Amino acid sequence: SGTLTVDELAGKLNKDASELIKKLMFLGVMATKNQDLDDDAVELICSEYDVEVEKEIVFEDTDFDKYLEESKQENLVERPAVVTIMGHVDHGKTTLLDAIRHTKVTEGEAGGITQHIGAYQVENEGKKVTFLDTPGHAAFTSMRSRGAQVTDIAILVVAADDGVMPQTVEAINHAKAAEVPIIIAVNKMDKEGANPDRVMQELTEYELVPEDWGGDTIFVNLSAIKQEGINDLLEMILLVSEVEELKADQTQNAFGTVIEAQLDKGRGSVATLLVQNGTLRVGDSIVVGNTFGRVRAMVNDLGKRVQEAGPSTPVEITGLNDVPQAGDQFLVFSDEKKARQIGEARQQKHIQESRTGQSKVSLDDLFEQI
Ligand code: GTP
Ligand code: MG
Repeated sequence: SGTLTVDELAGKLNKDASELIKKLMFLGVMATKNQDLDDDAVELICSEYDVEVEKEIVFEDTDFDKYLEESKQENLVERPAVVTIMGHVDHGKTTLLDAIRHTKVTEGEAGGITQHIGAYQVENEGKKVTFLDTPGHAAFTSMRSRGAQVTDIAILVVAADDGVMPQTVEAINHAKAAEVPIIIAVNKMDKEGANPDRVMQELTEYELVPEDWGGDTIFVNLSAIKQEGINDLLEMILLVSEVEELKADQTQNAFGTVIEAQLDKGRGSVATLLVQNGTLRVGDSIVVGNTFGRVRAMVNDLGKRVQEAGPSTPVEITGLNDVPQAGDQFLVFSDEKKARQIGEARQQKHIQESRTGQSKVSLDDLFEQI
């Protein structure tokens, strides 16, 4: 794969190299006899001759899917919803995230909210909710482009004095593409000129119709800055979570997604992981994107050291050999040797792909180019 020259391929097909060169030219590929052909070109030529390509699978062990065990129905238990806050610039996403955190996390508990790990959990009426503290768009584009879907519910913040704006529409499109329920948080109700009816009116154009008007979209009026309406919003999140019947199996090896990661001077690679299924434990052998290692230490969103983390829990871990990327998926292996082997294979594959420029353009890059 990727290392066949025109001459070698001609040999395998029992054809003249010059004939292949002509065919390639016809297909828009200028090649010489000793030129390496990429997989696409090889496949094109082979299909011209009705030959099926038997792909050499060197990195078959890099596929996570085959290591994901089927969860037994009886092992499934309720798990907290993972919520992302989206909306137009300045409509109050950050203020709302802070307001929720302040309402629900007491100062003592948080040690004065010093830790920032990109996600946090709050408890409401005995039930937890996980909030991703990343810009909503990033959470959707970069993660979804890697096949990871972490969000269960999208909160769309719309400022009552400003109404639906371009990024509001963008956010709606992301949430709809991801097929997650949307709750509308009509923010800045304290402001003069706040007009929640206009917001409702404008959103009907996007099939987001309030219950009062015969639709099924939940609207919550609030003021993030005055911390008013926050409990109503949390109640609605719990309501939607119940409808969604979010479940996970705590008994399995952990599986999930990287929320953010960076290199820390003292601690090395530090990654915030969202456990989506199973339970993650200190000492686990883990493959994270193209990196691997053993979980050396885990810290929760309150900055406390923890030994384990169940489904929908965000934790910061150390112990990886390199820095993974946001949106990368991770998987724990019972067999440490297997983890190392798969981790090394993934790393090698990644290096090779970046060398040959095969790494795919992510949705994120595309959005940046628009
Ligand atoms: P970006 O991250 O830049 O997209 O903005 P954001 O959506 O996170 O908005 P942010 O929370 O930074 O709020 C923008 C401005 O609106 C700030 O000056 C806030 O103080 C103000 N603001 C946020 N919520 C409210 C509110 O409920 N009422 C009033 N009056 N102002 C608010
Ligand atoms: Mg913000």
